[in-house]
Amino acid sequence: MKIAVLKEAAAGERRVSATPETVKKFVGLGAEVSVEAGAGADASIADQAYADAGATVGARTATLKDADIVLGVQGPDPANLAGAKPGAWIVAGLNPFGERARVDAYASAGFEALAMEFMPRITRAQSMDILSSQSNLSGYKAVLDAAAEYGRAFPMMMTAAGTVSAAKVFVMGVGVAGLQAIATARRLGAQVSATDVRAATKEQILSLGAKPIFVEAMKGIEGEGTGGYATEMSDEYKAAQAELVSSHIAKQDIVITTALIPGRPAPRLISDAQIATMKPGSVIVDLAVEAGGNVEGAVAGEIVTIHGVKIVGHRNVPSRLAADSSALFARNLFNFLSAFWDKEQGKPVLDEEIGNAIRLTQGGKVVNERLLG
Ligand code: NAI
Repeated sequence: MKIAVLKEAAAGERRVSATPETVKKFVGLGAEVSVEAGAGADASIADQAYADAGATVGARTATLKDADIVLGVQGPDPANLAGAKPGAWIVAGLNPFGERARVDAYASAGFEALAMEFMPRITRAQSMDILSSQSNLSGYKAVLDAAAEYGRAFPMMMTAAGTVSAAKVFVMGVGVAGLQAIATARRLGAQVSATDVRAATKEQILSLGAKPIFVEAMKGIEGEGTGGYATEMSDEYKAAQAELVSSHIAKQDIVITTALIPGRPAPRLISDAQIATMKPGSVIVDLAVEAGGNVEGAVAGEIVTIHGVKIVGHRNVPSRLAADSSALFARNLFNFLSAFWDKEQGKPVLDEEIGNAIRLTQGGKVVNERLLG
């Protein structure tokens, strides 16, 4: 059983899908691990550290030769996987909706592609959930990115020269990233408020010491679909939410938006007219910018200024904390593969629940029902 760890090829991707810690654990399971030279460089992991953990480190062709499993953070280019065994597993964040052509190419090439972001949100799979591990760090980093762009301080400070008032931070979308953003902004001393369409988040917002901003008394809207994800809202709800949020946004210094709906474009939460009501020097961080953006005018990969407000649209925010995000991502992959490790066969064997959820391609075909639908 050979596991290949590739150097990520996507522009701006600094993460790596295995760390010396997980290499050592895979070797402990009896696997042979081969790491492409330089794979960990951007995450501050030297080739020698992989070698010390028991991996062979070499060129891409040698790394891929006869691999049974290829690990990645993002999906590797199917044209660039020569040498891997027929039917080899490609285990990575494969962005199945956004990169459909690539999924088809994995199928034609005979690979079995396993999309880690399709991991079901069930208790036993929590330690394998890349969306949670990466979103948590994104939520943290979004607040630091906002603080770096903001020309004022976050905490209230009483100094001999006078008082500096606390920043007002509003978090829109209280999933994993939003919760961490609230906690981080609170630690920095900001006055924090937050909103979501899922009523269940209200308690969570309160428990973190922030103020919930919610549309009340609107019938028939739970806002929660399968797996705890948001569903798309009615027009009536959207209008009420926009009105409430408008008056609130005008008083904020920092807004962090994190709202996503799986498989659909991100919901638009802030319009150009709302940005115009904010004070000059305010900062908005749009964590959903790559999914279409929560904020009108946000540009992926750029910081733009609109009506004197800075709109931060960094791409791939977890990659901005590459050492920690890699460590957690690598553990997600190890937790997944080791949970299914069959000692007699010396390889992982998936069960139906998780296998069917994450398997995109098999036997030359696309087999995942979310893609066939
Ligand atoms: P996400 O990344 O899909 O979306 C972020 C947040 O945006 C969500 O809270 C969503 O409700 C909110 N949102 C969507 N549309 C909105 C709108 N129009 N206005 C305001 N907010 C909007 O969500 P994430 O972070 O993946 O978490 C979703 C849920 O899954 C949470 O309840 C989380 O606790 C749960 N979860 C469960 C796990 C498990 O049981 N294994 C693991 C991880 C998360």
